[in-house]
Order: sequence, then structure tokens, then C-alpha cells
Amino acid sequence: MKTTPLASALRRPYSTATTYPRSYSLALSKFPRYQLTFGPSPIHPLKRLSAHLGSKCEIWAKREDCNSGLAFGGNKTRKLEYLVPEAIAGKYTHLISVGGIQSNQTRQVAAVAAHLGLKCVLVQEDWVNYDRSNEIVYDKAGNIQLSRILGADVRLDSSGFDIGIRPSWEDAMKSVEAEGGKPFPIPAGCSMHPLGALGFVRFAEEVREQEKELGWQFDYIVVCAVTGSTMAGMVVGFAADGRERRVLGIDASAKVNATHKQVTEIMQNTSKLVELGKQLTAEDVLTDARFGGPEYGLPNDGTLDAIRTCARLEGMLTDPVYEGKSLHGMMELVSQGDIPEGSRVLYAHLGGVPALSAYSHMFRAG
Ligand SMILES: Cc1ncc(COP(=O)(O)O)c(C=O)c1O
Repeated sequence: MKTTPLASALRRPYSTATTYPRSYSLALSKFPRYQLTFGPSPIHPLKRLSAHLGSKCEIWAKREDCNSGLAFGGNKTRKLEYLVPEAIAGKYTHLISVGGIQSNQTRQVAAVAAHLGLKCVLVQEDWVNYDRSNEIVYDKAGNIQLSRILGADVRLDSSGFDIGIRPSWEDAMKSVEAEGGKPFPIPAGCSMHPLGALGFVRFAEEVREQEKELGWQFDYIVVCAVTGSTMAGMVVGFAADGRERRVLGIDASAKVNATHKQVTEIMQNTSKLVELGKQLTAEDVLTDARFGGPEYGLPNDGTLDAIRTCARLEGMLTDPVYEGKSLHGMMELVSQGDIPEGSRVLYAHLGGVPALSAYSHMFRAG
């Protein structure tokens, strides 16, 4: 397996410190938050998966995939808690967002719009080179089906994958304005919104509270990264107690350089926003390129094996686009010894399971 910056960073002499004292504060409370999640998302051990990987590490999961009652929730629901106050204060009439055809983001925006009594326009772009013989379900089942049921105006667009700002939703914005509405734009993954990473700064604070109850702290946090604000928020949040390099990002886009650059930018902007008081650099962003292939939205054999293994050992489902890739990455990092033996590892399960039905042809035999 080729060595990546992440793998070599992990092989540095392992600190035996098991406590990470807090030395930096985070000015999060100055930002209004509108609660969309149930409360702290649950954490629990994955005992059978840990044993299956040789009992080298104690693996736990934090369940963002069931963090809310709004259309199954997920990482965007947590991010949107910091965007919604602006939409309400500005008396916007529509939430506008963009993603791939099977975007989890757009499904969560549709649910939040319904919950707030706002209208919703979603631009669903052609991000995934999916098997066209599967068209019968890909643009009809899974996330897109849920967005339609949630009442969103779903607009299919032929643009390809890109994590940056897109012209397609500028067109959607203009069409809402032309009807006399006031559109609130939410970029892909909420990531390029200036407040898009605050939810995951708060995630770290939530983990610290849960660790107090457990009486110990996690050594590593494994997270999937694509548009970047989830990981960026976590790096800032965990930097408050010196764990910025304990957040291990598994790229799921197969374009790791773009992911790394976007995470770094968002991390630096967010650390200023929350007045972290500590300089974070590109070196603090550990991303692993090995598990994201062959392309965004398409799993490899390792992804599919990881999905099945975890489902059968733990009853925990993951998807082929995001979480199956980060799960595969975490399992390899543990079993190959990249994550040092004896570590306590937190797998951040960010959601995405509603996409599974759009990939049903891959699981015909289980
Ligand atoms: C289920 C799931 N996991 C991981 C990610 C990656 O998060 P981010 O885009 O903030 O990097 C996303 C969204 O892109 C997602 O929907």
C-alpha cells in the first residue's frame, strides 16, 4: 500500500499520553444556533468489529446518522443549526441548495425547509458516473425520492462533480427572485458558507462532554471528507485540547488534493471565527487518499466489504459513497497497525444510509 502523509504521520513515535488537557477556548456561544438535532448524538462501542480487527484498538461510533428526526438527519443537519438563524432573521422564503443526484445534503435541506415552513429548491447535478443501466432507480430512489416526498422543487442538472461554488444554483436563485421570493443559498455540503463548519466545532465540544462521563478520551477520530467543513470543524474543535492531528480524514472524492486544500481553508477561517488563538496549518490536516477510489460516488471492493462486514458484525449500516469508504479506511488503519495498538478510536458516522437503495444492484447477493 502506498504511503500517504497520513500514514507517515501516524507512524511517528506514539505519545503515551492518555489525557488531552484543554488549553484553548472556543468562542462558539456568540453564534446563534437553531436546534435541529435531538441533542448530543449517541456514542457506543463497536465491540464485535474491534474483536474482528484483532482487538488492537477499542473502536466506538458517534452516530450523526441518527442525530435528528428530520428525514434521518446526518452531518448537514448539525451544520444547518448555525445557518438557519440567518435564514430566519433575514425573512428568507426559500432554501436553495445543490448536490449530486443522491445528495444527502439536499435531502436534509428539504427536511429543514419543511420543518421551518419554507419552500425549497434543489439543484441535483450529475456528480456520479453511475451505471446508466441503473437509471431506473438512481434518479428516483434513495435521497432524491425523500426530497421529492418532502415537497422540494427538485431540478436535475447535467453539471459534473465539483466541490466549489456552482453557477447552477445561481440560476435557481434567479428563478426564485423572478417569482418574488427571497432565496437563501446553501452551498454544497454547507462547506463554503462562512458558518458551515461551526456545527462540527460543536461536535468536538459534545465529544468532550461525553468523554467526561466515560472517564477517558479518544486518541483518534476518523471522519469522511469531501466538501470539507465536517473535518475542518472537527480539527478546530479538537485543537482546543491539542488533538488537531488526531482527526484522521478519509477522502471519499478520489481528489484528495482538492479535499485537503478546501479543509485547510475552511479550518483556518473557522479557527479565526471561534477565536481559537492557535495557528493551524495545512500540516494539521491529515487526509488519506487510499480509500476514496475509483471515483466520487463509486465504491471499490474494499468499500463494499467494509459495509457488509460492519453490517453483519454490528447491525450498523453505511453507504457506498461516503461512510463505507471512511469505515474501510478506519478498518485498514487499525488492522495494519497505522493507528497504534491500544488506541481508543472514534468513528464519526456522518449519515448517508438513505442512498443505499439507489445502489441496490450492488447488493443483490447481500
Ligand atoms: C454521509 C456523508 N458523509 C460524509 C460527507 C462528507 O462531509 P463534508 O462534505 O463536510 O466533507 C458527506 C457530505 O458530503 C455525507 O453526506
